[in-house]
Amino acid sequence: MVKATYYVEADMPLEKAAKAIAAEQSTGTWTEVEYEKEVHEKLGARVLSAKDNIVEIDFPVEIFEPDNIPGILSVVAGNLFGLGGLNACKLIDVDFDPIVKYYNGPEFGIQEARKFLGVYDRPLVGTIIKPKVGLNPKRTAEVAEMAALGGLDLIKDDETLTDQKFCPLEDRLIAVMDKLHKVEDKIGKKCFYAVNITVGGDQIIERAERAKELGANMIMVDILTAGFSAVQALTDEKIGLPIHVHRTMHGALTRGNFGIAMPVIAKLTRMVGGTNLHIGTYSGKMERNVEEINYSRDILRKPWAGFKPMFPACSGGLYPQLVKANLDGYGIDVILQAGGGIHGHPEGTTAGAKAMFQAVDAWKKGVSIEEYARDHHELEMAIKQWGK
Ligand code: 3PG
Repeated sequence: MVKATYYVEADMPLEKAAKAIAAEQSTGTWTEVEYEKEVHEKLGARVLSAKDNIVEIDFPVEIFEPDNIPGILSVVAGNLFGLGGLNACKLIDVDFDPIVKYYNGPEFGIQEARKFLGVYDRPLVGTIIKPKVGLNPKRTAEVAEMAALGGLDLIKDDETLTDQKFCPLEDRLIAVMDKLHKVEDKIGKKCFYAVNITVGGDQIIERAERAKELGANMIMVDILTAGFSAVQALTDEKIGLPIHVHRTMHGALTRGNFGIAMPVIAKLTRMVGGTNLHIGTYSGKMERNVEEINYSRDILRKPWAGFKPMFPACSGGLYPQLVKANLDGYGIDVILQAGGGIHGHPEGTTAGAKAMFQAVDAWKKGVSIEEYARDHHELEMAIKQWGK
């Protein structure tokens, strides 16, 4: 049985709403159908409990094609959201354990990423190239160079940059990797570049393979717009590159009364093989639900089905002043990603990267950033720019 848990508000008694959901998502419909009796025993979903707006439904394993995520979602997260009489219906958890053996999980996880970078004792610090779109490949590479010179571990495209005419993916990738190799020769430090290969399912493998040929050391996919199967296809094809997973569009699913909560997205992303996943900030510009961040964080990192652990990416409005709140929540196995909070530093991108590391050092030493800033100029300037 695969247990799915929903938050439900309804015009009818909760038990009745729960039965309607179980029927709609398995063998039933709005009225009795004679032939259902032939299949209900084997494939009918059952209401386990319905109390205090929480509904638990058991789906027989046989109802799923177990390695088909679109198909699974059509069962546990399908028509039910549109049922009349429901005022709220959110999928808040799914116990995938009975079918998890059909998934490979990440080929590259936390350990592999740390080994590549040679960084074991601190959080990773990364940036998103800003402006998110508009720079040509040469300018993108120059910004990446300045960021890498600040010692960053990861530089990524933003979610809306793919292969537009103003910044073709291949030219951008070649230009950025060239700069990163030069920086590595200079400062002796490696840096990932997560090039955004998001595209339709018919082209994503080809795009990933081409990126690999051109020297990519990480690829990025917008998992909700491309689909979980896009990442699964990359893992199954053994593309051989870590996959940075962006959750753009998540608000359409995770906010409000109807939808799918972030922990379910986190579970699916680990099953299909992401290396890093954006799951939110304990302090930052995006709306948050701290309990869900805690649960998503644990889903990515805890031992599960022999899958390699993944890095949570903490991103969205981050800057040095928010480092402590986020590291208190995440600990060191996290990627702190700041876009504006690095490139908007008054002394530029390299100084912005250094200020982020200084904030991390202050946290590790248990010193306030104000105190640490007394003899760390870049942090001092960040505090002047954005306040305490
Ligand atoms: C992201 O990809 O999370 C955002 O682009 C973050 O950008 P910001 O640090 O400027 O808010």
